[in-house]
Amino acid sequence: MQLDVSAAAAAGETRVAVTPETARKPLLIGVPKETAAGEKRVATVPEVVEKLVKLGFSVAVESGAGDAANCSDDSYRAAGAQVIAGAAQLFAASDMVFKIGVPTAEEVGLMHAGQTLITFIWPAQNPELMKQLADKKVTVLAIDSLPRTLSRAQKMDALTSQAGVAGYRAVIEAANAFGRFFAGQITAAGKVPPAKVFIAGAGVAGLAAIGTAVGLGAIVRANDTRAEVADQVVSMGGEFVKVDYEEEGSGGGGYAKVMSEGFQQAQREMYAKQAREVDIIITTALIPGKPAPRLITAEMVKTMKPGSVIVDMAAERGGNCELTEPGKAVVKHGVTIVGYTDLASRLAKQSSTLYATNLLRLTEELCKTKDGLINVNMDDEAIRGLTVVKEGNITWPPPAPKVAAAPPAAKPAAAAAAPAAKKGNGHGAASAPMAGTKLAIMFGVVAALFWFVGANAPTAFLGHFTVFVLACFVGYMVVWNVTPALHTPLMSVTNAISSIIAIGALVQIAPPLAGGAAPDAWIRWMAVGGIALTAVNMFGGFAVTQRMLSMFRK
Ligand code: NAI
Repeated sequence: MQLDVSAAAAAGETRVAVTPETARKPLLIGVPKETAAGEKRVATVPEVVEKLVKLGFSVAVESGAGDAANCSDDSYRAAGAQVIAGAAQLFAASDMVFKIGVPTAEEVGLMHAGQTLITFIWPAQNPELMKQLADKKVTVLAIDSLPRTLSRAQKMDALTSQAGVAGYRAVIEAANAFGRFFAGQITAAGKVPPAKVFIAGAGVAGLAAIGTAVGLGAIVRANDTRAEVADQVVSMGGEFVKVDYEEEGSGGGGYAKVMSEGFQQAQREMYAKQAREVDIIITTALIPGKPAPRLITAEMVKTMKPGSVIVDMAAERGGNCELTEPGKAVVKHGVTIVGYTDLASRLAKQSSTLYATNLLRLTEELCKTKDGLINVNMDDEAIRGLTVVKEGNITWPPPAPKVAAAPPAAKPAAAAAAPAAKKGNGHGAASAPMAGTKLAIMFGVVAALFWFVGANAPTAFLGHFTVFVLACFVGYMVVWNVTPALHTPLMSVTNAISSIIAIGALVQIAPPLAGGAAPDAWIRWMAVGGIALTAVNMFGGFAVTQRMLSMFRK
């Protein structure tokens, strides 16, 4: 396909546009069948196809691509996609390709210049693949390279969505291999103790596993080298077990680092104790760019109770357990060790739907104009991070993320006071005392004003004036000391309190005091009306405040 990039380039854009005769033709998104052995997921699902079509794209799916994820060819057709037989035809027809697995050499061979590929790439681990893709003059967005800490990028974070599914499935696999209930029960046939589960690594997958195991009724403990996850573990219903060794485990970007030998020794002791006590261990510990840390030794496995289960979610990266065999479930020393590397794929419909939604959100970012054309905007931090090959040029790794400007260094007192000095007598050194002098003058003027009002105004005015000044002060203090998020409930509650004017109305309708004249009947009826209206204001104000405050309560 010939690219017409001149106008876009002039406008500073990198729009993937088309030749003049096809200028209005939307891009065709192709979804091939995944080729990795045992992969059941598919990169888009019929529900998402409809949304891609609404964005202006055409969608084509390889016949049978969604079969293992319960998405039939007919369901894709019904959603508005074409179904194409054969990967070669699909790749040839597509302007963009949505995939999940790292592309094989055959798949790269099927790609053509100008095409855009969105899939998992792991560029650091696959330099040869990166070269092959660049040679093909394609653009590649590696979903694994998304800058995950950007809050705007969370909706596109396929690592998180897939890890969440995998964490859930790890518990289900453990439950399947475990010979007991998770929840404790007291039955006529005897007492069943709850299963004890230990989770090593409380990242996305670990937290999902904690939530699932707690939901099944197990007692759940967890450990992580990053101290900041302790609260998250507790909020999921688990207990955080600390290593008795002080060391910061955060390696930046929300990820862990390799710990010191001293820490590892202390951690091994704690893990050995947990291994003796618990029934199930689920390990999820990973460090970016490094082999998975070895946390469970063969000795620890030997000390576990017969029938215990280990699910090693780090199996693909070498395993957290010494005895794990990647891709298999094996029994060693009476303990079932599950090393499946396709946990997310084992819930294919769920993981495919979440992945498809991640890619839909990414496509929305690429196609803000909703015309079926994409703009790989390298000025957008999220898109820049994802783009590992741009029109045949390797653009990975991206530049270091822009960090918020460091807070300006505290200005020396003399420098800070310089503008004030200019306005004053021009002597910089005298500026600090000047500020104090100004304040004293201001207070002096205000005090003189008060004395003048007090000396000359009528006595009645002085009383009202004092109340007014105090009201201004209290109002200022209340508003400025309440966090802005709470200003709306504050307004409604002060509104309700202001209904105190009802007292005035009550005085009007009350029987006159001895010797006093009763107010006119019409004044009394007006007061009754006033009370009715004020009552709405009063009770309504408190009710609205209550509802708004409950929105802030967890
Ligand atoms: P991961 O899969 O790389 O690691 C899993 C967990 O293993 C991590 O929590 C890590 O601290 C832990 N770990 C590593 N070495 C360990 C050891 N020796 N012992 C015990 N635990 C060890 O990480 P994942 O789950 O992909 O994400 C990690 C974190 O990144 C998340 O928990 C979150 O805090 C952060 N994150 C932030 C996002 C955001 O700000 N939008 C999005 C996604 C993740």
